[in-house]
Amino acid sequence: MTVLGLAGSLRRASVNRGLLRAARGVAPAGMSIVDLDLRDLPLYNADDEPDPPAAARHLRDCVRAADAVLFATPEYNYSVSGVLKNAIDWGSQPRGANVWDNKPAAIVGAANSVVGTARAQLHLRQSLVALNMRVCNAELLIGRAPERFDADGDLTDPETRAALRDFLVGWMEGLRR
Ligand SMILES: Cc1cc2nc3c(=O)[nH]c(=O)nc-3n(C[C@H](O)[C@H](O)[C@H](O)COP(=O)(O)O)c2cc1C
Repeated sequence: MTVLGLAGSLRRASVNRGLLRAARGVAPAGMSIVDLDLRDLPLYNADDEPDPPAAARHLRDCVRAADAVLFATPEYNYSVSGVLKNAIDWGSQPRGANVWDNKPAAIVGAANSVVGTARAQLHLRQSLVALNMRVCNAELLIGRAPERFDADGDLTDPETRAALRDFLVGWMEGLRR
């Protein structure tokens, strides 16, 4: 199973990009996580639809080719980052060609607050449901990120790593049922 990993942060030492790196390391046998950097994606503009920018075409191709999508979302002002929402918007258009349609999805996220992206994840889940993604019910909320990731954004906390592994195993088992 090929899983496309999308992190909603462009920051070099992003803990959410680090979470995706860690996910690659603990993914169960049969799950391969590939990630796509969203930094080249321009802001969505419907006027560009007749000739979409290469980065938007690439995103759409990657989503179509993946069996499932893993979103690693930061929490920006109690919601999803613009980076992630912009990618979701690009994939949802043009009307009738929503690449997210019927794709399995799971959400993880790390943030500084103790609630660990709970508010962002709820907003994200709402958008994914609107796009008819099959969103995993389980949540992985990682709070107090600076205590669990190092200065490069790499996950250092063994308990969080184990929770991430269990989350991915549970997601994959659910998809196989
Ligand atoms: C614009 C902005 C808004 C933020 N808002 C929140 C917030 O609402 N809740 C929270 O827990 N952390 C918030 N933070 C702190 C982030 O959790 C922290 O910067 C985290 O490292 C972002 O994820 P990243 O490392 O993947 O970029 C905010 C950070 C920024 C830059």
